[in-house]
Amino acid sequence: MSMSILSKIFLGFLSLVFIISGCKDGVSEKKDEVTTIVFKHGKIAGEPRALLDIIAEFEQQNPDIKVKDEPLPASTDEQHQFYVINLAGKTTDFDVLSMDVIWVPEFARAGWLKDVSSALPEEQRIEFFKGPMDAVTYNEKVYAIPWYIDAGVLYYRKDLLNKYGFYPPETWDELVTISRTITLKEKDLYGFIWQGKQYEGLVCNVLEYFWSNGGDVLKNGNVIIESPENIEALTFMKNLITAYNVTPELVLTSIEESTRHIFGNGKALFMRNWPYAWNVFNKEGSPVRGKVGVSVLPFFKGHKAASTLGGWQLGINKISKHPEAAEKFITYLTSPPVQKKLAITIGYKPTRKSLYKDEDLLREQPFIVGLYNVFLHAKPRPVSPYYMAMTQVMQPEFSAAISGKKAPEQALRTIQRGFEKILKDLNP
Ligand code: GLC
Repeated sequence: MSMSILSKIFLGFLSLVFIISGCKDGVSEKKDEVTTIVFKHGKIAGEPRALLDIIAEFEQQNPDIKVKDEPLPASTDEQHQFYVINLAGKTTDFDVLSMDVIWVPEFARAGWLKDVSSALPEEQRIEFFKGPMDAVTYNEKVYAIPWYIDAGVLYYRKDLLNKYGFYPPETWDELVTISRTITLKEKDLYGFIWQGKQYEGLVCNVLEYFWSNGGDVLKNGNVIIESPENIEALTFMKNLITAYNVTPELVLTSIEESTRHIFGNGKALFMRNWPYAWNVFNKEGSPVRGKVGVSVLPFFKGHKAASTLGGWQLGINKISKHPEAAEKFITYLTSPPVQKKLAITIGYKPTRKSLYKDEDLLREQPFIVGLYNVFLHAKPRPVSPYYMAMTQVMQPEFSAAISGKKAPEQALRTIQRGFEKILKDLNP
């Protein structure tokens, strides 16, 4: 009797083990069918839902792949820090990463990126703007696919310029005159806001003044940053804040999003920013809806306008465990229909040139026509695996100069020496 109870218990135990292990197998089999990839990218301004919808569509088209969307902070400097720490630490926690245009040579040289040349065969590369294409190419191999392109532009309040009988300014001096005239008459309105915090965005701003005054940073491998043109340009930026009463001091701690909020609340006449902000300004409920114009940045008399080339590229962690799924995903996100959707919803501007003739896009965003030329001629920051070392020399000096802590000529001299040392260390 007791034996039969024991054997029943034993049999019961065996079948339980069987059921559990059977279950386990069932689950793991299912799991094996689906590959999950992790996608890291900077936080999206305005319409984050749109990207999630685009990802959901990819998952529908590829039922064997799931994408985990993991946004990072919006600031490029913070994102860079995250990637350097984690990629150097050989993480496999993410598969796909969105990279600023200035990082790809550095990450490729470090061996952190998968070569994706075959995902973008040579004959297709011509479809992209040259600037970002150069930025993703290192030692003749392609290490990322250009996702969206940026260039500095000038936002202005159409309604206010009309009211006072002005056209958008062509030169920096005109911008000063218009700002001073209108802000004297309008209450609670800043003249011109831009990104002046000590970070990468400041470098993008400063270079636009250098270039639009005929200056530059490097030429044929020589450092030419300490030049009369650059001194004049940097002094002008400082004077916008300290002498001309055109730019409020708050720009010294401003980044893209903080200036976008001020302008978007109707509190500024002019703003320098990237093209994404236009979509946010024209959304329903926006206080400046229909009142915003976009134009090329002004220049110093006798010179030409110049915009810094920005933008983001999609690459794959070299030691990702799911390189095929990751490649499918970056190919999808950079495909013409998805770039078009991103342009309409989030305002990310396509890296594919043909989309600037797309009728739907032109109807939704007529100013995109003018941007084509701005993107075509946008100037890159030095394309080098050592760019981060260079920007770290520039950022504190530019910040000290525009805030009046250091004379612009002194700041530029320090950068000149710093750059010469970097170049010397590279080619002793
Ligand atoms: C934008 C640009 C990027 C630049 C950054 C600076 O995100 O696309 O290239 O480095 O702004 O803040």
